[in-house]
Formats: sequence, C-alpha cells, structure tokens
Amino acid sequence: MQICNNIDINGKGHLTFAGRDTLELAKKYGTPLYLMDEGKIREKIRTYKSAMERYFGEESIPLFASKAASFKQIYRIAKEEDMSIDVVSAGEIYTALSVGYDISNAFFHGNNKTIDEISFAIENNIGYFVVDSVSELDMVDREAERQGKKQKILLRITPGIDTHTNKKIATGNVDSKFGMAIVTGQAVDFVKVAIGYKNLDLVGYHCHVGSQVFDASTFIDAVDIMMDFAYAVKNEIGYVPEYMNLGGGFGVRYVASQADIDIASTIREVGAALTQKCQELGMEKPKILMEPGRSIVADAGMTLYTVGTVKKITNFKNYVAIDGGMTDNPRFALYDAEYTVMNAVKADAPKLYRCTIVGKCCESGDIIQEDVHIAKPEEGDILAVLTTGAYNYSMASNYNRIPRPPVVMLAGDRDYVAVKRETLEDIVRNDI
Ligand code: LLP
Repeated sequence: MQICNNIDINGKGHLTFAGRDTLELAKKYGTPLYLMDEGKIREKIRTYKSAMERYFGEESIPLFASKAASFKQIYRIAKEEDMSIDVVSAGEIYTALSVGYDISNAFFHGNNKTIDEISFAIENNIGYFVVDSVSELDMVDREAERQGKKQKILLRITPGIDTHTNKKIATGNVDSKFGMAIVTGQAVDFVKVAIGYKNLDLVGYHCHVGSQVFDASTFIDAVDIMMDFAYAVKNEIGYVPEYMNLGGGFGVRYVASQADIDIASTIREVGAALTQKCQELGMEKPKILMEPGRSIVADAGMTLYTVGTVKKITNFKNYVAIDGGMTDNPRFALYDAEYTVMNAVKADAPKLYRCTIVGKCCESGDIIQEDVHIAKPEEGDILAVLTTGAYNYSMASNYNRIPRPPVVMLAGDRDYVAVKRETLEDIVRNDI
C-alpha cells in the first residue's frame, strides 16, 4: 500500500508519481528535483472549499497558508481556484501580486511585520491584517491613517491549547511569541484597545493551535475556548466578531504508521461542535476561516535525488548520500521529521537495506532520514522522498552555496517548470 493515491509502481518496477515515471522525470530535469502534482493541489483546495461551505456555512472561507509552498504558480492556481490565501511577509505578498493575485482576499500574518511591510500591504489593498500585538495595532493604525484608509483587522488570540505536536511547531500555547493569551486577561484588553482605533476596523478573531495535528478534538477545543472568549467579550463590551479564524494545522501522513485525516469529515465534526456551541451560548455563528497549508500541498510533492556514495561504518550504520540534503529539506534537521523514502529504480523490490539517508552538506546533522529500510541502493539510483510538497521548497537555503532545485509541476501528461533550477551564477547574484 502506498501512502498516497498519487503514488504507484509501474510495470518496469519504477516509482510513479501523479501517473508519471519518476526515472524519466529525473532524467529529463536532473536531480535534486522537486515534483508537484497540480491535480492533487486543486483537489485539496476543492475539498476544503466544499467541506467548509457545507459544514461551516456558505460564508466560510478557506485560505491557503502560502508559507507552506510559495512561488508564482501556486498563486496562479489559487487564483484560478478562487482560493483565498494567507501571507506572512512582503515577499509572499509580492509573489502573489506578481501574477495578478487580488490580495483584497488575503490575510496578512506575522508577529513582527515591519513598518515597510505594513505600508506595502496597505498600499496594495491587502484584505485583512491579523494583528499580533498592541504595538502592531499602533503601527497599522498609523500607516492606514497616512494612506487615508480604514484597515480591516483580526486579532490573534492564544487559546492555550497544548497540541502535543513538535514543540517547535506548536503555536497555541500561552507562552508563545504569537498572539495575546486569554488566560492572562490580555486578550480581552487587546479587543478593548483595538476597537478604539480610528483607522482600524476589527472584524474578528484568529487562533492557530499548531501544525501536524491529527485530532479533530484539538480544533473542537479551540472552537470551545474561542467561542467562550467571544461570548465573554460580548457580555463585557458588546463586541461580536463577524469572523472566527481557526488557523491551519491538519496533519498529513508522511509515513504509513500515521493517520490519514479525512479533511471533510474532520471539518464536519468541528462544524457540528461549532453549531452546538453557538446554540448553547445563544450566539450567531461567526463566519469561519481556516488556513490549511501543509494539508493542501504536502502530498502533492515528492523530491527525487541521485544516490552518490554508499558506505558502511563498521559496527554502526549504512550511510547513503544523495545529491541534496538539508538545503532542500531541512525538516529532519529541525524537527526530526519523518519521511518515507523509496528507491525509485526498484520500487517493487523488498525493502531490506537499513540505512541512513544523508545529504551533501558539510554538517553531520545533514540527514534526510535515519534508519529507514529501502531496496539496496547503488550509485546512480534515484531515491524518492515522499510527501515533500509543504515546507521543503519554501524552507530551502543555499547553505554551502548549493543551488536550490527546480520545482516541476505535473498536470496529466504535461510536465512544466514552475521554478527554475538555480545556477552557480544565481548563487553570486547579489555578491558585490
Ligand atoms: N496559519 C498560521 C497562523 C500558521 O502559523 C500556520 C503555520 C498555518 C496557518 C498553516 O499551518 P499548516 O496547515 O501548514 O499546519 N515549518 C514547519 C511548520 C511551521 C508552521 C508554521 N505556521 C514544518 O515544516 O513542519
């Protein structure tokens, strides 16, 4: 059983992705190579849109958290699919604008937007700011005034939920750089202050509990806590939010032992809890927003590498080195992230060779995956790392002056370059 339905093995024993022979793609484009399955991205977007409309109500809006994969073609796809987005920097805004994406749909996140970014976003008529702190309220208000505009905002509230996910990607805890916490009493004050600004229009609340979360109950807890908060604020000062943004975070299956979340049924559960909660509180249901990133693009991605050196350290491990590494996928180095690795040349051969897959950087932590079983590799074989569509290209670096791989999109019989391979010339582009 493959971990996602866009992965298979053909008659030659080669791994296929989105119906295409990965060895042919590796030959055509070289390695390392990021592949993206365009159909899968569109399918996920449509799943979110229809499930949210059905279970949260017609005015609910899914936003693609574009930090998961940010390049021009992603925003073109979002535009074609009429999908809203969240952005976290002038760079993401600029990329979206550069393909004519209308950012009046976009939500601008971040705990420390610079004044230049705030100014750039307002100039380009960003839809909404998700304001993280009182000092940001001041900055956005000042800039909106300067530009003669009234800026719609949401407030980032910390519900205080421990998601049991990796500590580095859990963001709903009280002690976090993000948002203002309910339990400390600061969140209420945040609302009171926000509604007083002349150039700001407070339209709702936002929370994000963390990433790679598998449990519907975590999101139901968030609904519970956030609606209780909305209720308390309403009673105290009469303010009622139009929008409630529940953030992103749905987990994806990187390895067979992980669950495969059914997006629609999870949203159905959360939607039912929301309806019940609002009835209990006697409040109208706010318009619900969600911001999936990983679960839209992760399994739409695969990375191909070529095997270089293979060596055994006696009494220890087999090391298989590939022509990429932490520069194109830093997630094991950062989070001990799990991945499924396959030898794409002999995808149907028994996976009996235990090894650690390492990159080519001058760094011992440059590991893609530790202690995996694959079909015994030889120099020149193509290795595939599955489910790399989220937070791989978008987190890639040029450490050791290694050029970043290209992103090639697969769409039916068509394959096309969405991001070119960096050249050595690109590496020195900004050097004086
Ligand atoms: N909304 C907000 C405010 C966020 O901070 C994030 C992710 C998302 C939405 C999207 O979450 P997702 O659906 O992708 O889980 N680089 C890490 C993940 C960091 C996530 C940061 N925020 C990783 O590679 O696992």
